Amino acid sequence: MDSFPQHIRTRFTELVHIRYPIVQGGLAHLSFAELAAAVSNAGGLGQIGCACFATPAELQAEIQKTRRLTDKPFGINFPIGHMPLEPFLDAALAEEPAAISITGGNPEPLLQRIQRSGVTIQTMVLVAGVRAARKAEALGANAVIAVGFEGGGHLGRDDIGTMVLTPSIAESVNIPVLASGGINDGRGLVAALALGAAGIELGTRFVAVQESNAHPAYQQALVAAKETDTTIIERAIGRPARVLNGNIAEKIKQLETELEREQNTPAERLQLLLPYIQGNVNTQAALDGQLDAGFVWAGQVAGLIHDIPTTQALIEHIIQEAQEITIRLQHLF
Ligand SMILES: Cc1cc2nc3c(=O)[nH]c(=O)nc-3n(C[C@H](O)[C@H](O)[C@H](O)COP(=O)(O)O)c2cc1C
Repeated sequence: MDSFPQHIRTRFTELVHIRYPIVQGGLAHLSFAELAAAVSNAGGLGQIGCACFATPAELQAEIQKTRRLTDKPFGINFPIGHMPLEPFLDAALAEEPAAISITGGNPEPLLQRIQRSGVTIQTMVLVAGVRAARKAEALGANAVIAVGFEGGGHLGRDDIGTMVLTPSIAESVNIPVLASGGINDGRGLVAALALGAAGIELGTRFVAVQESNAHPAYQQALVAAKETDTTIIERAIGRPARVLNGNIAEKIKQLETELEREQNTPAERLQLLLPYIQGNVNTQAALDGQLDAGFVWAGQVAGLIHDIPTTQALIEHIIQEAQEITIRLQHLF
């Protein structure tokens, strides 16, 4: 047996100085120091989610905590739209993390602020189409993360799966591309590299690891889920997102169908849906474990999650499986 690989070198691992091309996606309410540090200590790139914190000072304290738990590079995720992000960005920049990822809107103002700060930091923009990827590159992003339709959480509006999105973007930009959405293991890593990606980003998989603060009921629901057990909500307000099937998800979809039949503006739709889609409805299920009273983000990849390992064991398994597959594939030729 070949020895366990200590590095997988890609343009992305060289960019952010990590051992394996595996990024932990920003996870709303679930991206804290323990998880980020565990991912980075295991050789990937962990991320803290800016949206997990009420104040810039809290974010800054969490970055400092992460530094105490790991001496490896890690990133901070910025989802546009929830709150004014500039004070949070300034707090993050003061700590000079290795990377920042931006999602959910026009990345230009944040990218410009980072560039003006003079801090050396690698920027990653989540995109769901070729046009957005080209724009991110033109704005000076250092990498793009191609988020396919299989993925958990918020998605693009064009419903393009990872298998087509990744090579489409990889052949359209010169910066490194990470594949995201539907990836869970070494098979997914090899497939992503074959499609032209320089690495992978995993979201749902990192909910079901020991270091995650997700409620055990949420983690067990992912283990029990089949690949058919997710659905899309928030399409009626133009920001489709994938969740695990459940009471509240069903209620949201019914409401959206009714809203789509009526004449109403996007703002009116948002107003009516808000009681069911706002953050506390998510945390009630994700953190408090009341799965019937809230909804949880999850990708189709839930159907491939069968255990709740430590982050270290998960990443070792991904790398070992990727190595075995690569060796096996060589015998085809
Ligand atoms: C629980 C959960 C919360 C998420 N929250 C965020 C977020 O705050 N910011 C972000 O950039 N992406 C977020 N995402 C998307 C992930 O970062 C990632 O792009 C996606 O999960 C990839 O698809 P996968 O779930 O199939 O791995 C979230 C995904 C999940 C499952």
